[in-house]
Amino acid sequence: MHHFNYIDKELYCEQVPVSKVAREVGTPLYLYSHATLLRHFRAFDGAFSGVKHLTCFSIKVNSNLAILRLFVREGGGGDIVSGGELYRALKAGMEPGKIVYSGVGKRVEGLEYALKSGILMFNVESIQEILKLNEVAGKMGKKARMAIRVNPDVDPKTHPYISTGLKENKFGIDISEAPEQYTVAAGLKNLKVSGVSCHIGSQLTEISPFIDTLRKLKKLIRRLGQSGMQIDYLDLGGGLGITYDREEPPHPKEYARAIKEEIKMEDLTLILEPGRVITGNAGILVTKVLYTKHATEKTFLIVDAAMNDLIRPSLYNSYHGIQPVKISGREKIKADIVGPICESADFLAKERYVEPHEPGELMAIMSAGAYGFSMSSNYNSRPRACEVMVKGDRFYIIRKRETFKDLVKGEMIPDFLS
Ligand code: LLP
Repeated sequence: MHHFNYIDKELYCEQVPVSKVAREVGTPLYLYSHATLLRHFRAFDGAFSGVKHLTCFSIKVNSNLAILRLFVREGGGGDIVSGGELYRALKAGMEPGKIVYSGVGKRVEGLEYALKSGILMFNVESIQEILKLNEVAGKMGKKARMAIRVNPDVDPKTHPYISTGLKENKFGIDISEAPEQYTVAAGLKNLKVSGVSCHIGSQLTEISPFIDTLRKLKKLIRRLGQSGMQIDYLDLGGGLGITYDREEPPHPKEYARAIKEEIKMEDLTLILEPGRVITGNAGILVTKVLYTKHATEKTFLIVDAAMNDLIRPSLYNSYHGIQPVKISGREKIKADIVGPICESADFLAKERYVEPHEPGELMAIMSAGAYGFSMSSNYNSRPRACEVMVKGDRFYIIRKRETFKDLVKGEMIPDFLS
């Protein structure tokens, strides 16, 4: 459920007309509903009540400081994959003791920064990283709490680009090799084996891959216990899907119930790293129609948002709902919704039945709150969009629109060219 609804044929975010925000801050524009963000975080976190757990929002999904702060105030932690994400988490006021660090290519600087900050746990993804973490921690006189991110070889049944728990994926350490590598880690002075972690993929619409994974991890935890390694944390990663079109993913309550029924290991603290399920449907991308072009084969609605603002359709051919900001009642036409970028892959939707729009009329690209702004770029020297949060009948700019000056920040012309 979200808080983007029509009142008198006009799209509102909570109690604010979307067109009002667009008029005041311009387009393209990311618009988030505070009530939806809060509701989704609480629904997810609350579903795990009764078991010791920590909800670590996956920061790559939406990294805006205001949004992170909202989750911090709800007791949330964070899943980071870079020094930059750690910086954001700390700036948003996140407790270091609630931060876990995943990623196949952690830099030494990132390891040092995280050790200095005192994060909860490193989810290590290769034997070389185990040795590097031990070395860095040793130099700093610290002991690093760590888990091995296990690759359980479970098919998440999602888009191949976002599946991560299969043998052919670059992520984690093969589950069959994990016991041996845990033994190596346990023998290193500056590491403290604390957890087992995994993340099998994103936009999962079935529970069974999570449960298959959980069963494999439980077996591993028992085996490690027999070898004298005490596991305190079981990190199940993120991955729960949302409805973009007609998908019917399980409700967080069902997901949590299935996990709680299966886990039954009372000494463990469960870590969850949800992302999409919390912010995906809490944000939209608002864009203005620039032109309509009736070509021989197709009709194109050319809008002022593009693949640099929302790359998901171009990259994964993913579906985002397209809705008018004001319902005109005009007879629908079949059209491609495309941006101004010089690439044929620059589309937001293909062959959709939409109301025709006059130049200047607004359109909403739905379900854009996850992997939307956070994956945006400056391609074609387009300043990145503005981000706005609505709360009740007010709205707040949470990231200013970039300027042309921002585009060239840090660039320099060497003397020999002057
Ligand atoms: N934990 C780890 C270690 C991850 O790599 C990810 C996402 C998550 C948690 C959060 O997963 P979620 O709950 O959002 O499914 N850009 C793609 C998705 C890439 C997923 C990357 N990892 C997209 O737009 O669909």
